[in-house]
This record gives sequence, C-alpha cells and structure tokens, in this order.
Amino acid sequence: MSVEQTLRTLANDTYPFHMPGHKRNPAFAFCEHPIALDTTEVTGSDNLHDAHGILADSMALAARLVGARRSFLLVGGATAGLLAGISASVRRGDTVLVARNCHRAVAHALALAGVHPVWLQPEWNASLGVYGARSPDTVRQALTAHPEATLTIVTSPTYEGVTSDITAIADTVHATGGLLLVDEAHGAHFGYAKDFPPSAVTLGADIVVQSLHKTLPAPTQTALLHACSSRTDAARLARQLAVFQTSSPSYLLMAGIDNCLRLLDREADALFAAYSKRLTAFRRRVGSLVLSPNADSGKLIIPCENGATLADRLRTEFRLETEMSGAHHVLAMTSIADTDEGFDRLATALTAIAPAPSTESIPCPPAPEIVCTPAEAADADRQWMPLTEAVGRTIAEECYAYPPGIPLAVPGERVTDALVAHVQALQNAGVEILGIADEKIAVIA
Ligand SMILES: Cc1ncc(COP(=O)(O)O)c(C=O)c1O
Repeated sequence: MSVEQTLRTLANDTYPFHMPGHKRNPAFAFCEHPIALDTTEVTGSDNLHDAHGILADSMALAARLVGARRSFLLVGGATAGLLAGISASVRRGDTVLVARNCHRAVAHALALAGVHPVWLQPEWNASLGVYGARSPDTVRQALTAHPEATLTIVTSPTYEGVTSDITAIADTVHATGGLLLVDEAHGAHFGYAKDFPPSAVTLGADIVVQSLHKTLPAPTQTALLHACSSRTDAARLARQLAVFQTSSPSYLLMAGIDNCLRLLDREADALFAAYSKRLTAFRRRVGSLVLSPNADSGKLIIPCENGATLADRLRTEFRLETEMSGAHHVLAMTSIADTDEGFDRLATALTAIAPAPSTESIPCPPAPEIVCTPAEAADADRQWMPLTEAVGRTIAEECYAYPPGIPLAVPGERVTDALVAHVQALQNAGVEILGIADEKIAVIA
C-alpha cells in the first residue's frame, strides 16, 4: 500500500488522542485541494524571510493574540524556533543554564552554538517516571554559582502539562542580566481561556517557542517564535531563522498557521468553553482512572502497570491511538478539535479496562557527569560499543526515549554505571531508547 493509502486506512479506523491538534476533524479542515495552495514567492504571496504582505499580516496577528512584541511563523516546528532562538541569544563559549527535561532540539542547539551547558534538575515524579516543574530556587542557586550565564532555558509546560513559575524564574534571570527562553512547545493553547494557564509570553520570558501543531488545530510542523521583551534582538532572531528554516517554506503550512490564528481570533472563547465542558464531563466519568489535571487539564495521564500494554489494548480493542506510553502511564492528548464521540469512546474504554496504577517507582535519570562540551563531542571521532562496556567513556550521540525526546545523555557526558542501569530499567519496562542500536552506544573514540 502507498503511504497515502496506509494513512487513510489508519485515519478512518482509529480515533487520535495524539498530535496534531486538529485531530483530523473535518470541522477544522482549511483546504480541500492542498496543491491549490502550494505556491512560492510570486506576486501577491510574500517572503517568509522578509515579510511585508500576507505573511507579515499573519505574524502581526500572532503577536497580537499572544501579546508578543514580534512573532515569527515557523514551518520547521518548534525545533526550528529553538535552534534559531538559542543561536540568536548566545555567543560561542557562553554558559547556558538548561533544565534537564529539555527537548533534544535544545541539546542540538547547544552543540551548534558551542556553549557550556549547566544542567538544572527539575522535580521528578517517581511514580510516573516523568519530570515536573523547574523551581525558581534552583535557578537562583545556579545563577549564584554561574553569574556569567547569558541564557536560561526552561521547558514549560512539560510534555505532561506541568508548568513552572515563569514569573519568578524571569525575575531571577533578569536580575543577573541574562535572557530567559521558554520552550512552550506544548502550550500554544495557553492564554486563550481562564481554564488554561497564561502563556510565558505574558509572564516575563524574553523568547517563547510554541508548536501550534501539538495542541491547536494546525498542520504538523507549524509553530511560532515570539520575541517578547526589549532584551530580545529581533533582527538577530530573524537572521537565525533564515539559517534554520528552508528558503522554500510551504504556503500550505503557512496558510494552516494563518487559518488557525484567524479561527482563534474569531472563536477562541466559544471553542475553549466547549472544550473545557467536554474535559470536565470526561474527567467526571473516569474519576481517578485519569490523574487530576496538571496546569494543563487537556493532557490526560492514565496511570497503569505497564504503559505499552495499556496503549496496545486501547489501540487493538477500542481503536484509540494515544500519544505515548511510558513505563507506568499512558498519555492521551486532547484539544479544542476533539469531539464528544472521542471523549465518550475513551471514557468507555478506560472504564472497561480499569487500569490500576503501578506501585513501583522509577528513579530519576542520573545527574550528568560532563567531560566536554556537546560541540567538542560532535567534532570528535566516534565508535560504537556495547553499553555495558562503555562505562567511563564519553558519549558521542545522545540517547533518548521518543516521545518525549528528552535526552537521557547528551554528547560530552560520561557513561556511568548509574546511566547504564537507568537505560536498562527503561528498556526492561518496554520503553524504546533511541541512540542505542543493538545494545551499542556511540562514544568518543
Ligand atoms: C518540549 C518540546 N519542545 C520542542 C519539541 C519540538 O517540537 P516540534 O515537533 O514542533 O519541532 C517537542 C516535540 O515533541 C517537545 O516535546
């Protein structure tokens, strides 16, 4: 079967509790004949990298909706925004404070920018095996130890919908003259309704990156980068976006962004009110089968003995596809595009299965031991060797579970007994670890 035929079959059959946020719901379709919108820079269209027409209007609308000074359209996902945002905020050799639960795109940006990361350990939820909030105190302590840090990077909300106190973190960072970049990839829907948290754009962050496609009805790859304060060099950001984004951006994707923004401008109140009502009714039906909401009530975390087994049952017995399964939980993503029928099917399935939470706890990934910078590791020759024999060597390629794509180890860090034990425990729980092939890991030769 062709890719298109396969995808159509999957789509017809299964309800998506995963990204993208349009949930394939025809009510949120914006274009019947995709190739009709697939154009390039011709008279009447615009230039993403020097926008003065329709794309400038779209960017202005994005900025108005979130309250940013300036917003940029991204067609390479939040990934492009993180690469550009970080590159535009540092100089080679700078020190950067980074929450350890960052996405791998952040780790890639650190390597490209040639900076020294100082990792901040967020809170750890041992029963689910996921990271929690980043406390302002740890940022304060890290900045006392590293007052030279020019940039602090925080992921808020997390993949599971946990937010950090951005106002307090921003105050702390700004007191030492640094910049705060918030990876709000999972919070593009924030700020539109009182049932959801405000966006970091309005809480003091300097640069905010949002994936539209994750939680809003917009096509995959679409995202926004916001310049939020006078500390941000918007011209430098624009230059770096030209480095990391294609010179042939898809008008189909950009029309998808524009459509999503216009929809929010017109109907956000009604759409979010209906969404909140559905979420409340759903949570009432499933009770403690789904965890009480984090800051983002749209993220449904289902605790269970084994995430992979539960996700498999939901898929095969109930035709429900979830976003991800961890060792002891399954994560279902919802959005304003979910239907009553979708929520009903998930509530029915969960009530029938009645998954019980695991009583085992999952230890926090071990703190990294840094040997060299990610950039130095990227330049070094590498070899693949069995994980268990690599203890003491320096990692050359990151290891991570995908999703969520949070690195377990970043190039330039030492392979320790604790890291090997952690990776093996995750693998034994059925979590696939990328960056390890045939039980071998890449280390500096
Ligand atoms: C926290 C976080 N940041 C950034 C990204 C990258 O986003 P995108 O897929 O839009 O490039 C992801 C993707 O899962 C993510 O979870």
